[in-house]
Amino acid sequence: MYLENLVVENILGKLVVTINTPEKLNCLDLKTLGELEKIIRFANNTVDIVGVIIIGQGSKSFVSGADINEFKSINVVNSREFSLYGQEVFSLIENCKKPIIAAVNGYALGGGCELAMACHIRVLSENAKVGLPEVKLGIIPGYGGTYRLPRIIGVGRALEYMLTGKLMNAQEALQFGFANHVKPFGEILEFSHSLLDSILCNSPTSIEMILNSVNSYNSNSFKEIEADNFRNCFDKSDVVEGVDAFLNKRKPNFLKNRLDI
Ligand code: COA
Repeated sequence: MYLENLVVENILGKLVVTINTPEKLNCLDLKTLGELEKIIRFANNTVDIVGVIIIGQGSKSFVSGADINEFKSINVVNSREFSLYGQEVFSLIENCKKPIIAAVNGYALGGGCELAMACHIRVLSENAKVGLPEVKLGIIPGYGGTYRLPRIIGVGRALEYMLTGKLMNAQEALQFGFANHVKPFGEILEFSHSLLDSILCNSPTSIEMILNSVNSYNSNSFKEIEADNFRNCFDKSDVVEGVDAFLNKRKPNFLKNRLDI
């Protein structure tokens, strides 16, 4: 796969995706967004890929937002489509069957904050600053920010941050539940790997079904979906291994079932 703005490394099935345009603080132009779409589709559809970590290049920024230069050619006719495309890519991330961690190594603003929120877990470096400053540009968060931030930090707080455009530092993000963890800058990638490993030693079926159930929040039939996914677990062999291992006081080995997903 030819990618210009992303660097992708496969480490034992974990894809580390680095957004690599540090000269403009890794802002998300449409080309980079298209490349993200390709790599997430690849991760989702490739059996050997078990998880993803997304990080920005350099020590200053994860993603500084959509590319503001591109706003010059966005207008009342094409802006809805622009927003819907970003939402679609970020929904692909949220709905990916494999766990995705955002390793937020600096600024995560606008589309960068929305990208981090679409990921399943967020690990922030101590120097991270996150927020939705679109109000300062005369636009609104259009890549899912208006519905994801209230779910993550609560409606009142989300409105305050969106309406003022102010940024959260890493400690505030941790306190409000935006960040799962805050680590020194040099440790976030290693920490994200070990967190992903502690997920991946569990049943791949359970992981997929938990992600699907949690992401069904915007469906009217979330109870049915959770029950369907619970049932789906019993259609797979991991439950046999997991229950047997528990009852026999041994460690489960889900690895042998992975190709059975
Ligand atoms: N879109 C386009 N270019 C961007 C960008 C963005 N979202 N964010 C940063 N850049 C570019 C800057 O224009 C600058 O380019 P230049 O060197 O050609 O002048 C370069 O990246 C470095 O950014 P700079 O602003 O000089 O760094 P800084 O340390 O002074 O400030 C930020 C960092 C993140 C506070 C500032 O760049 C910023 O506010 N960016 C926009 C954030 C935003 O509004 N995002 C939401 C967009 S919807």
